[in-house]
Amino acid sequence: MASTQTIAQHYGRADLGTVILAALNAAGKNIDRLEPDDLAPIDELHSRGRESTSDLAQLLALKGDETVLDVGCGIGGPSRYLAKTYGCRVTGLDLTPEFCQVAAMLAERTGLAGKVEYRQGDALAMPFADRTFDVAWSQSVAMNIADRDRLNNEIKRVLKPTGRFAFSDVVDAGGGAPHFPVPWARESSISFLLTAQATRAKLEAAGFNVITFEDETARALARAEGRMKSAGAPLALGLHIVLGQDAPAMLKNMRRNYQEGRVGLVQGIATRRN
Ligand SMILES: C[S@@+](CC[C@H](N)C(=O)[O-])C[C@H]1O[C@@H](n2cnc3c(N)ncnc32)[C@H](O)[C@@H]1O
Repeated sequence: MASTQTIAQHYGRADLGTVILAALNAAGKNIDRLEPDDLAPIDELHSRGRESTSDLAQLLALKGDETVLDVGCGIGGPSRYLAKTYGCRVTGLDLTPEFCQVAAMLAERTGLAGKVEYRQGDALAMPFADRTFDVAWSQSVAMNIADRDRLNNEIKRVLKPTGRFAFSDVVDAGGGAPHFPVPWARESSISFLLTAQATRAKLEAAGFNVITFEDETARALARAEGRMKSAGAPLALGLHIVLGQDAPAMLKNMRRNYQEGRVGLVQGIATRRN
């Protein structure tokens, strides 16, 4: 089984905070007073970027008084978007220590430190009491996790009985193993894709009712192809800042993986069945 250390090493980078601030500075942003929108090209580490986050949030129809847990929060883009747009309080949990540190630093600089907090930890053994959160949220995390039953059980455990789970996952689309590297793995030992059908079935088996389940593959492919068309002129701000020197190969492979029907993208909402 892949160790959590290998996964944290895949994502971690000691100088990440400095690199991000330097890139924002070079792009003319005021790094002492950032807006979450300034960060969107960098801090949405999943297919379809900010659009995916705003779509998923709309599916949830948040009122603003919810407590949200972002499972595998990365450097915190989705959590800050939810806090800023809807006013909810968001706790981010992530395995990668550097990501948690950068997430907290960016929360300070966007003036959202009172609304979001970050904890380092494993989604398979969450440091939260039973029935804590109104909403659990997770984007592009489950594909690093082999034990999907335990993940779903943990998410259900920390949700209140009326809780809802919003998810967006890359799935195995049946066309063969992905070309590596991809953003979540440089090789297959830390990549655990399920089919869309199995993703849904495992949620139901863990005690969720899946109330919305949408195939977002066509949109993900369109976005990946659009990104490649502008690849000749590298953007000052982009995912390469977080993904590092493998970023061009990772993003090219994602386009190919979507095109060749190797991977797909699903999103949905599930409610806790008591
Ligand atoms: C592709 S990134 C997505 C980050 C964030 N959800 C986003 O969409 O911007 C995957 C994240 O999952 C985290 N992760 C992977 N396995 C995890 C685990 N077992 N527990 C907590 N976080 C995990 C990684 O550290 C990484 O930050």
